Amino acid sequence: RVAYVNGRYLPHASAGVHIEDRGYQFADGVYEVCEVARGFIVDMRGHLDRLDRSLRELKIGWPMSRSALEVVIGEVVRRNRVKIGLVYLQVTRGVAGRDFLFPAGVRPSLVVTAKKVDPSVGAKRAENGIKVITVPENRWDRVDIKTVGLLPNVLAKEAARAAGAQEAWFVDRDGNVTEGGSSNAWIVTKDGVLVTRPADRGILRGITRTTLFKVAAKLGLKVEERAFTVAEAKAAREAFISSATTVATPVVAIDGEPIANGHPGSIVLSLRNAFFDVAE
Ligand code: PDD
Repeated sequence: RVAYVNGRYLPHASAGVHIEDRGYQFADGVYEVCEVARGFIVDMRGHLDRLDRSLRELKIGWPMSRSALEVVIGEVVRRNRVKIGLVYLQVTRGVAGRDFLFPAGVRPSLVVTAKKVDPSVGAKRAENGIKVITVPENRWDRVDIKTVGLLPNVLAKEAARAAGAQEAWFVDRDGNVTEGGSSNAWIVTKDGVLVTRPADRGILRGITRTTLFKVAAKLGLKVEERAFTVAEAKAAREAFISSATTVATPVVAIDGEPIANGHPGSIVLSLRNAFFDVAE
């Protein structure tokens, strides 16, 4: 495998960044994960628009022009021969002696990696559905910025694994689900309406989530952007998650309680099937 690191294509196994990179010391950086399907980056424009927003919110500059970054991403995908897989890109504020204040005259660090993914893994998960647990929302109030500061997400997902589940849903003080540790959260009401939380500062505005709005419109499904409680989710007709890594994957149990008959719902599977006809 080959990784791009600050201007060079290096063997993945030995590629590294400096020990004083601010991503390492302060989680002072942002990232994107994009899906590669049929050799193309899915929704590249959406991902780079969101990267731009994340960078602006944190006053980190672009490490190179957007068009140059697109070339680097394409090159990393090509050099790794990825037809189906994932691209990871990370921009940090750069390398500087440890000081909380922004360093002057530092170039942002850029890392781009790509890996192949066996599509049968996601297909199997879609077929069986996944289980989620709920955990108290304990993140900061700017999770709309896709930063590499993911310790609460790491702990939540590890707690899910310990409970035999595959994702954790954060629940705010009002009892409403915000989102998953690395995905957006959805339910389908008894009337067949899709419900997902509005993209305020309480969640990440998922690129997959945005594309699913278009997929739903194409399938003639109604979407309501509103908060929903854990109780409503447990009583829903269907539940599912969305992300670049899972597309739309059914949730069949929440905190050990089965959703409907405990099998993947038909609406989420129809969204999943139609996804690549709509994604750019
Ligand atoms: N995570 N919410 C959170 C907290 C996420 O980390 C992600 C994605 C999403 C879904 O966003 P998108 O549809 O743009 O992938 C929502 C990536 C996949 C990750 O961290 O691996």
